[in-house]
Amino acid sequence: MCGIVGYVGRGRAKEILLESLRRLEYRGYDSAGLALIEDGELLIFKRAGKVAELERMVASSDFRASLGIGHSRWATHGRPTDENAHPHRDCQGRLAVIHNGIIENYLPLKKELQARGHRFASETDTEVLAHLFEEHYDGDLEKAVRAGLKRVKGAFAIAVIAKDAEEIVAARVGSPLVIGLGEGENFLASDIPAILPYTRKMLFLNDGEMAVLTASGVRLITFSGEAITREPRQIDWDPVTAQKGGYKHFMLKEIHEQPQAVEDTIRGRYSLDEGEVFLEELALSGRKAKEIRNIYLLACGTSFYAGLVAKYLWQNWLKLPIGAELGSEFRYSDPYIDEKTLVVAISQSGETADTLAGVRKARERGATVIAVANVVGSSITREADGVVYTHAGPEIGVASTKTFTAQLAALALLGVYLGRKRGELSPAQAREVLSGLASGPRQLEAILKKEPEVQALARRFYDKPDFLFLGRDILHPIALEGALKLKEISYIHAEGYAAGEMKHGPIALIDEEMPVVVLVTKNSVYDKVFANIEEVKARKGIVLAFTDELNPEIEQVADQIFEVPQTPEVLTPMVFVVPLQLLAYHIGVLRGTDVDQPRNLAKSVTVE
Ligand code: AGP
Repeated sequence: MCGIVGYVGRGRAKEILLESLRRLEYRGYDSAGLALIEDGELLIFKRAGKVAELERMVASSDFRASLGIGHSRWATHGRPTDENAHPHRDCQGRLAVIHNGIIENYLPLKKELQARGHRFASETDTEVLAHLFEEHYDGDLEKAVRAGLKRVKGAFAIAVIAKDAEEIVAARVGSPLVIGLGEGENFLASDIPAILPYTRKMLFLNDGEMAVLTASGVRLITFSGEAITREPRQIDWDPVTAQKGGYKHFMLKEIHEQPQAVEDTIRGRYSLDEGEVFLEELALSGRKAKEIRNIYLLACGTSFYAGLVAKYLWQNWLKLPIGAELGSEFRYSDPYIDEKTLVVAISQSGETADTLAGVRKARERGATVIAVANVVGSSITREADGVVYTHAGPEIGVASTKTFTAQLAALALLGVYLGRKRGELSPAQAREVLSGLASGPRQLEAILKKEPEVQALARRFYDKPDFLFLGRDILHPIALEGALKLKEISYIHAEGYAAGEMKHGPIALIDEEMPVVVLVTKNSVYDKVFANIEEVKARKGIVLAFTDELNPEIEQVADQIFEVPQTPEVLTPMVFVVPLQLLAYHIGVLRGTDVDQPRNLAKSVTVE
């Protein structure tokens, strides 16, 4: 999730672009850069680090340029280095490109361009765009961009400038792009906050649309060049509301970003035709994969629950002993580890001390370590043998929401990858799982539309002092995660339990004051869970059934029902967790807690 900005007009582009980039830093920043057209020359300044580093780099330069583009990067392909920072240029230094998104087919395009003599300066997917446009550029920048984009697959919001052109050409598919309309000047950005100080008159591009910005005006066109007319919108948000995309809290915004986070995490990493998964940053050989004799999924908190979900799925796919281990326990215990052990360390931040200590112990004992992380270049990723990055973008809310569902998606991909490498999963079996996974964004969109039903539940139960969350099999980890979300956001005491454990103690807690969230899916343990619901009812507990199996028997025993769509098993945890995230969020709001920064919590627990 990078930030792109552009300016053309009568003002000083450097100052305007730097201010716009500073307002986009919440979108992630591990490098930043600028490209300016000054006296017919293309000047590029870029370096790793925050926007402040870039400012220091250009502070003493007094540019009069009134046209330029800027970029703050949240790395997905290529480490956060000066060379990988945007903007990227062509071989001749005639044009510069900035990009937010993922070019899925950048590797074959890069090989093709290199074969035609193009020299690359970075590891990024974005740089292929600069060389593609260069091949078509004969002075008409719009035409060159349209021709180059015909070869590109993936998600992108781009802006392109050329030293002999008085315009900025922008285009989008799958990543946001907003145009700001000024008097004698025009702006573009990934998001509203970047340009709000300069104009409130904005145009929003849709997928497959381009914009050509000059000082005097903006033209909207399709990728095939047809003109588009669109009325600008007047945006009256304040800057902070704008950073939250109009949502009341970052947590709610990030809950609603989950379809995009899952889409971006799986994009370009599988082929339904071949029934294959491609994790090029992993570099795990088929031989190494076949040698694995046991696996530990290692994590803390919400990430540990993602590991528990993977355990349920992988033990069927991989026919191996698989353990889910808490970092704080694993690091001090004496688990069986040898060179045939695989440890998968799951961490949104990549900095959690207990998980990092577990990684070090595993490596000392000869295990192969793979990290599943959201932050490129974080400590755990640097100490692992291979990495599968989630592409959820920065998560500002302390509670893990979109990074959790992105972890589930990444772990599903990794499980299929290992299953195929080991020969335990056939292409047909892989295809079945992957087609289920591919429908994830659409299923998540559908469940998010039912938010008002969850709000009604929150209003009914927000004043209860205790909650129980029950689930079995693959929904047991989701019961634990639902309880954790409620605990950490609303400060209500909530327990997650394997439903079958009720009779071993927790059932003593049940009374007419106790809301019991029961997760029910039509699988092999449906009858057992239904029996647990009846146990709760018999003790006058309040049953809130979240179920993808609506039938008269459930309607008869449940006090409240929230219907979840029936999905392939690989998606079941994702679609069940979203209403629980929303329940925790809305109960927290009703109880007046600070849902983005709950008391006593930190986003990343880098100490013991
Ligand atoms: C969950 O909402 C919390 N933010 C916390 O449990 C978190 O999942 C845990 O601290 C692990 O963090 P990590 O994924 O960055 O390693």
